[in-house]
Amino acid sequence: MIEKRDSWDIEKYQKLVNSLPKAGTIALTFLQPNAGEKILDLGCGEGTLTEKIQSMGCHTLGIDSSPKMIKACASRNINVQLMDARFLKFDEEFDAVFSHASLHWMNGAEMVVKGVAKALKNGGRFIAECGGIGNVSIIESSLINAVINAGFDAHSPWYNLDETDYKAMLESHGLKVEFIHLIPIMEPLRNGIRAWLEIFAHQFLIAVPHEMHSHIFDEAEKLMRPLLCNEEGMWHADYVRLSVKAIKTPVSA
Ligand code: BEZ
Repeated sequence: MIEKRDSWDIEKYQKLVNSLPKAGTIALTFLQPNAGEKILDLGCGEGTLTEKIQSMGCHTLGIDSSPKMIKACASRNINVQLMDARFLKFDEEFDAVFSHASLHWMNGAEMVVKGVAKALKNGGRFIAECGGIGNVSIIESSLINAVINAGFDAHSPWYNLDETDYKAMLESHGLKVEFIHLIPIMEPLRNGIRAWLEIFAHQFLIAVPHEMHSHIFDEAEKLMRPLLCNEEGMWHADYVRLSVKAIKTPVSA
């Protein structure tokens, strides 16, 4: 679905991305982009990693379902299309499909995998890093409790992937898994937890009147502080990344 309630704040998002200079470096290392390759960046956001891949001499296409993200990419001369990743329209066109920190925002993992498999050339690689089971579970449960305690319905916008199920799903679509690992990472948040919540947790507040948003975040922070903020006052996000490399393998191989 193209995001109709496109509530991303691009300026804040960009600031956070810049405060995490290592974000995406592991996935990029696994991608090993070669000049001249055609690479699809699935859920490209505002294009920081797409731009990096492009600067390595690759022909990139970024897709995202957020019109604001697409506009931000276009303003930095990145080749992009507004597209829902469940409805990819590509046929054996790409040497690699790359996805960083996006798949856990997408409902319908199997439709995405099917489209990825079809988009890849034979021998093409799918390199992804996303939220795995347990990803930001302390942040998520604190937000849900804070919203419910205030008397509203709470729904998480995140679809974290299970290692075993996802491997089976990839292989059932002809993507042979070279590795799939869950990696817990306590990521320091140099700009604090509030900046992170304001950028990524706005969807928890859909049912909450605007004037109560700040109160809900205060309450959620109180719940997560003992587990995510250390004695020096440094906040951390309790990420559990799922890191995947799979190769499109012809059915007869
Ligand atoms: C992540 O990168 O794992 C993530 C980012 C924002 C919200 C949830 C998860």
